[in-house]
Amino acid sequence: MESGFVYLYMSDEIGRARRQRDAELGIVRTRSGSTTTTPSTSSPPSPLSTGSPRSDPTSALQRSPTSPGRKDSVLSRSAKMDLFVGPGPFAVNTFAMPEKRRADAAAENEAEDLLLQSTPFETRDGRPYLRNTPYFLPCDLIELHRQSLRTMLNEEVFLAPTCAPFSSGLPKKVLEVGCGSGFWSSTCHDHFRSLGHDDVSFTGVDIVPLAPNLREQGVNWNFVQHDLRKFPWPFEEGEFDYIMVKDVSLGIPLEISQRFVDECVRVLGEDGTLEVWESDHILRCLVQHNQPPLWDSATRTYPITPALTFNTAQNRFIQDANSWIEQACEQRRLPPTPCGRVADMLSQEPDLLHKVASKRTAIPLTELSWEYSGGRRPSAGMKKHKCKGKTVECCPTADQSAIRHTALMTVIQKIESLEPVLKEYSGKNTEEWASWWANMMSSLLDQNGVASGECLEIGAWWTTKRRRSQ
Ligand SMILES: C[S@@+](CC[C@H](N)C(=O)[O-])C[C@H]1O[C@@H](n2cnc3c(N)ncnc32)[C@H](O)[C@@H]1O
Repeated sequence: MESGFVYLYMSDEIGRARRQRDAELGIVRTRSGSTTTTPSTSSPPSPLSTGSPRSDPTSALQRSPTSPGRKDSVLSRSAKMDLFVGPGPFAVNTFAMPEKRRADAAAENEAEDLLLQSTPFETRDGRPYLRNTPYFLPCDLIELHRQSLRTMLNEEVFLAPTCAPFSSGLPKKVLEVGCGSGFWSSTCHDHFRSLGHDDVSFTGVDIVPLAPNLREQGVNWNFVQHDLRKFPWPFEEGEFDYIMVKDVSLGIPLEISQRFVDECVRVLGEDGTLEVWESDHILRCLVQHNQPPLWDSATRTYPITPALTFNTAQNRFIQDANSWIEQACEQRRLPPTPCGRVADMLSQEPDLLHKVASKRTAIPLTELSWEYSGGRRPSAGMKKHKCKGKTVECCPTADQSAIRHTALMTVIQKIESLEPVLKEYSGKNTEEWASWWANMMSSLLDQNGVASGECLEIGAWWTTKRRRSQ
């Protein structure tokens, strides 16, 4: 019930924000998603807002039933960005560099930092993106909504905003790394409070201040602006007892990913918990299996175990997007499939981290043609059916369908968010892109083009920092 409701609500709000942007840019979208541009007489939109100066892009959140206090804090967000002056120059890793190169690198680094602080965004295809960083998702309300929808989706599948068992008690001081809108901190605060644990402080760190002031929603919240590629981070050793790193893989190049984990470990206290949630940027296809359904009966998503096998995506548009995303990641030294790397990275530090555990899940993007015996979908109202001699639950509930549809919508919205890079790697001009986009929408939404098994892979990993004596 809840997830279906949340999905419909959020998607409506995302649609509203998108329509505002389209109107500004003179884009007319057909139902199947094709776009045409008409000359616009209005001034270009501010890179710091998703709507025109006349529109109120934040109205979307004002009525959010899931975030009652979000209204005012989000309202002030674009104003805060306009006024933003960041912290001082970041530290430079100058290890083993000759003096002159060190000075040059420091000057270059400082100039880059200053530029990022004074004008952090540049507009591409009408949306604001971070300048001078490898991160290639936009920083507007449409994208923040998409990320929040992903957070809700993960929480539906993992049943809570945290997977770690907290065997030595719930945490008191939490760090959300790459916090974006801070939506995870806000839901985690609610979750801990529902467990009777009120006295928890949350700190969010991000390269840009996208989060509202969660204090207005009753969260003990601090925001620290910092580029996570610069070490050390501005936190004390052992300062936090729980760190969440959620969906930041597109911000951290491969060559510093282990250093990134080390820094998480440094600021984590003994017996503290480090948790990572990620999703793959390249989509694969679940292979039809000959056993009874391997899905989790509550969510009808597929826990990733050795029994579950995958193929490359079959849908031609997903194949295209996969290939362009892979090229974009390769050029920026970012991981296209981060889920395959997290466990290894956490296991690199056996002297410091132990009890590494995980949950990984594949969420199909629609009902799959092979999920039912004989390939025939059971009629509505049927509760169970026989598959290979076993009786299994069959008809999806509204919640279960909403999980898949939400996954599909966040995939489509991500492709839309990646438009500038995907256009670049596809070599398509605006017209060709519009035609590709329309055909993709039609394939994915009207023709059920992902029924052979394309899925979104998500994962949660958690581990504990050893005590020095252990
Ligand atoms: C995909 S968003 C995820 C946000 C949030 N964790 C969530 O799940 O909703 C990635 C976040 O990483 C931030 N980011 C990207 N590169 C960064 C960097 N070098 N340093 C700090 N934050 C960065 C972005 O600003 C963005 O808020």
